[in-house]
Amino acid sequence: MAILKIARIGHPYLRKKSVEIEDPTAPEIRELVANMVDTLADAGGVGLAAPQVHEMLRLVIFFVPLASEAADRYHDAGLEDDDEEIALTVLVNPVIEAIGNETEAAYEGCLSIPHMTGEVRRPRHIRYRGLDLDGNVIEREAEGFHARVVQHECDHLDGILYPQRMDDMSTFGYSDEVQKDDDLPESK
Ligand code: NI
Repeated sequence: MAILKIARIGHPYLRKKSVEIEDPTAPEIRELVANMVDTLADAGGVGLAAPQVHEMLRLVIFFVPLASEAADRYHDAGLEDDDEEIALTVLVNPVIEAIGNETEAAYEGCLSIPHMTGEVRRPRHIRYRGLDLDGNVIEREAEGFHARVVQHECDHLDGILYPQRMDDMSTFGYSDEVQKDDDLPESK
């Protein structure tokens, strides 16, 4: 097991489409996932996509904790959530479809864009489907933060980073600066 280097915004792999995995049960896929789990734990995020560690494969890992920097950022926005904890999930060749037309905006961060955050509007309810490492189908409905995490990670597989989803770039900035928003004295 190893901690892998994470590609940062600008790297060509973060702009390209990844390819489908033919055999999710292959030992090299299992090894890649083990290394991604180590890398995610070391970096302290909630999700990681294979292209972020320089593997152009349609594979993501994520989990939904009740509390984390990313979850807090979401809940701070006052958005309703079902507060469901999701254990570490490996999704091979994931497919997402939105359920309904409801969208919501919340701040996101990305391990490939360190120290930055920005507000992204995304569908609130989704259904996603993929394979686990034994080749079994995983199919779930998700909403709120869970749905957001999955959409963010799967965007990486199509070469999309969250700033490309933003419709108000004035909300993009260094996390510690954006957080100052509430603390600023009234300007006169
Ligand atoms: Ni990301």
